[in-house]
Amino acid sequence: MPLFTNEELSDIQGLLLSEWAHLRRSRYLFLQFNDREGASAFIDSIMPFVTSAIQFPERWDDDEDLDAIATLMFTHAGFAKLALPEEAMWSFAREFIYGMVKRSPILGDEGFNEPTNWVVGGPNNPEIHALVTLDASNDERMAKLESDVRAIISSSTGVSIIHEESGFRHATDKEPFGWLDGISQPRIQRMPGYPDNVNNVCATGEFILGYLNESGIYPPSPFIEATHDPKNLLPFNPEGTKELSKKKDFGRNGTYVVYRKLYQDVAMFWNYFNQQAKREDGTIDKERAVFLAAKVIGRWPSGAPFALSPEKDNPAIGQDPAQRDNFLYHDRDKDGYQTPLSSHTRRANPRDARFMEEDKNFALGSSDKHRIIRRTVAYNQNDIFPREHVETCNIPDHVEDDGADRGAQFFALNASIRAQFEFIQIDWSNNRHFQGFRNNQDAVGGGNLGDSDFEIPAKPARITLRKVPPFVKVRGGAYFFMPSLSSLRYLAALNA
Ligand code: HEM
Repeated sequence: MPLFTNEELSDIQGLLLSEWAHLRRSRYLFLQFNDREGASAFIDSIMPFVTSAIQFPERWDDDEDLDAIATLMFTHAGFAKLALPEEAMWSFAREFIYGMVKRSPILGDEGFNEPTNWVVGGPNNPEIHALVTLDASNDERMAKLESDVRAIISSSTGVSIIHEESGFRHATDKEPFGWLDGISQPRIQRMPGYPDNVNNVCATGEFILGYLNESGIYPPSPFIEATHDPKNLLPFNPEGTKELSKKKDFGRNGTYVVYRKLYQDVAMFWNYFNQQAKREDGTIDKERAVFLAAKVIGRWPSGAPFALSPEKDNPAIGQDPAQRDNFLYHDRDKDGYQTPLSSHTRRANPRDARFMEEDKNFALGSSDKHRIIRRTVAYNQNDIFPREHVETCNIPDHVEDDGADRGAQFFALNASIRAQFEFIQIDWSNNRHFQGFRNNQDAVGGGNLGDSDFEIPAKPARITLRKVPPFVKVRGGAYFFMPSLSSLRYLAALNA
């Protein structure tokens, strides 16, 4: 498999290929376009700040030098406002054309999760046209990038900020419930440093349009008639899509992005698991509380998987990138005695163990068609109790809810929102009958309304957690398309 060429790397936005975990501060500026000429002029002036993947010198975990990146993406309404040619508007994927709000009934966004309750992206919020995400290694570096980007926005007549969000990575890389996050990321074929035979490598076309995917085909990509590209800024469609080969490929080197603002109720989470771990004398077995919560998540708080450390947490494994994601389920744990079938991580990526599927290689290949690249960070830096105390089972007996809003700024990058993010959310995470269950759901995926159970396979008898409370609530979201640098240049020239 050839590696990405320099030309390709210069065309792909950096967020896709950066390892990015060293960027500990994030800022999200949600934009509305006022008029199409102004919007194109804004894209032109922000282009010098949009980071391309060529700016990462080697492989994605070697990029400490690049300490700030800016990313630009659009909603379908934003492309309409830019007057993108009609053929491109309808050749985007259906779910992107509809947008997250119209998809919310099938995403399970019901009750308190309904879009009418959202703070961003919902029907009661201003329409989003574009999103600028800024990620930087520290506050100082963020301040510099942010002031440069804000200066461009405020001097652009065509664009206004309609909403802002922030994010951060905790010094321990723990998310608000106390778990190490961002571990299991698919690796992309063609990246330098990742030979094809390494575990966990997925076809490029699962994450970037214009390349073959795990099914051996090019993912559908929005196109533009050649006559609508008079300056010849866009490439032709790749070989293999013959009927489209005379059209210009607007999607190549771009991808779809899912955003969800997910509130995490830390007090509800720990009070529930404390309650489940009460001894007969009323005292709480803290180790048991953490054990039960870890079974629900699918890993120990340190990040160590049950597959490598079934009995107790092992921070040395959690800290070791070479070990902590190197496991499968079929041979050692088909029935989920180690990692429960219903746990968040096993639902989100069942790896080589799929219900009613005996062929583990087929199962693994099939799971690899539903992977996502996660760029999730936490929001609100104030903890109720220090999140690093979870790993040492040092949970307060009662966690007093401080009423503060905290949680995850969830971002997923994928070439098909339907086959990847939505598949995980709908078919695996929210599916009460996943793996043959009667009424189990992912407890943290955002779809549990408090009326599903959670079964932990155990001997001599399984443990059933009844009516798991809704620890996670959806507070916003949107579907975006993140174009290549060439396509951004096209958009900048569109109404010049
Ligand atoms: C606030 C809500 C969420 C929390 C607290 C959470 C937490 C976690 C944690 C602790 C891990 C294990 C560490 C890792 O592999 O990085 C994980 C893995 C993962 N999560 Fe989430 N997550 C949340 C929402 C979601 C959603 C909405 C999705 C997608 C629909 C998702 C997809 C995944 C995937 C694909 C993995 C990797 C599984 C694997 O490959 O083993 N997560 N999550």
